[in-house]
Amino acid sequence: MWTDDLTVGIWEIDTQHRALFVQLEKLLDACMVGRELDEVVEMMVFLDDYVDSHFEAEERLQREAGYPEYERHRAEHLIFRATLERLKAELVESGVTRDFVLRVNQTLIDWLKTHIRSVDAAMSEFLLKKTGQPADMRL
Ligand SMILES: [Fe+2]
Repeated sequence: MWTDDLTVGIWEIDTQHRALFVQLEKLLDACMVGRELDEVVEMMVFLDDYVDSHFEAEERLQREAGYPEYERHRAEHLIFRATLERLKAELVESGVTRDFVLRVNQTLIDWLKTHIRSVDAAMSEFLLKKTGQPADMRL
């Protein structure tokens, strides 16, 4: 699910992005093999918490660097968090359905990939330029 072209060049962010995809993959696997709903919900809660702390880390780096696109970037994060909340509520209400799996793929995974390739890549370029660090430095 993770591909190298998703690398943005900042170690902290790349590590968190990879972990996010691992977690999403685990969630989908759990759905496919028909795990108990409680277990799937627990994974969704974990994912939700992880997304929160990851977005906070990105936003902190942007604030520290005085990133001019901060508000716009944060607005995208808020939309994603709302989508995740909605999906979590649907999961609790209706259980694992084909529609849920489809939306995890289409709404969460596709969104993340697009966001990373465009919005996060632009952020990273700014941060790396600002700090004068070559890509992959441990910011
Ligand atoms: Fe982001």
